[in-house]
Amino acid sequence: MKAVIPAAGFGTRFLPITKAQPKEMLPVYDKPTIQYVVEEAVASGIDDILIITGRGKRAIEDHFDRSIELELALNNSGKHDYLKQLEDISNLASIHFIRQKQPRGLGDAILCGERFVGSEPFAVLLGDTITINKVPCTKQLMDVYDEYGGSVIAVERVEKSRIPFYGIIKGRGEGKVYRIEDLVEKPSIEEAPSNLGIIGRYVLTPEIFDCIKNVEPGVGGEIQLTDALRLLRERQPLHAYEFRGRRYDIGNKLDWLKSTIEVALENEEVGEELRNYLRRLIT
Ligand code: G1P
Repeated sequence: MKAVIPAAGFGTRFLPITKAQPKEMLPVYDKPTIQYVVEEAVASGIDDILIITGRGKRAIEDHFDRSIELELALNNSGKHDYLKQLEDISNLASIHFIRQKQPRGLGDAILCGERFVGSEPFAVLLGDTITINKVPCTKQLMDVYDEYGGSVIAVERVEKSRIPFYGIIKGRGEGKVYRIEDLVEKPSIEEAPSNLGIIGRYVLTPEIFDCIKNVEPGVGGEIQLTDALRLLRERQPLHAYEFRGRRYDIGNKLDWLKSTIEVALENEEVGEELRNYLRRLIT
């Protein structure tokens, strides 16, 4: 399976940090957000990845490219650990880039991947969302896809006040898999059919491209993936899966802070000291 990672959004919620720096490059402890996303795809068995960028996102391409001068300098000074780290990043997967010419929405960004994807099902991982679990979220979706077919999207129960920030589904089912009956992009709390929010991980059939081409601009005047999924649902089975693990929406300041703290707390080098520091801080 191939993966498409949309990373073209402006990062408005994170200004001014994102004025000259892509939000996907914001660090979560010691790695940029998008590296976690690529690593999730790779850990799910995917090694052919398209990242959809836009103007002002060159740092993402540089991050996954080789950095010959730096590698030489590290080699000459005997810093082989760092050198290995750099080589690992540029060897992670076969990564391709394409630019979305205008920011016309998530659906439109994914449409830029049509040729790359071809006629097979593919995974979509939003470049500003991190998930953490031993079995990666994307792998979990691939397993559900193997069992149910059609398209599968990961959801999570979101707090009531956060409902207007997400795509929300209406589904029927027992356990963690729901047959989707409807889905709405960023509804008001009153209109929302449930509190099951779309978290930014999908396994989609290529028919989604035709659906994207047939939707009108929706919320915010943008071509919304959620609206295209609504069309897809009329043609093919569409399931939601309440995934196992934690998720951080890095476009949200509090989530970003939490992600850095939680990842650092699990780190051997700094975890213990950070735990002690936080304890002192709040007492
Ligand atoms: C996008 C999707 C939305 C989803 C969200 C997850 O919205 O359109 O359905 O719930 O990602 O983060 P965005 O956050 O790009 O506005």
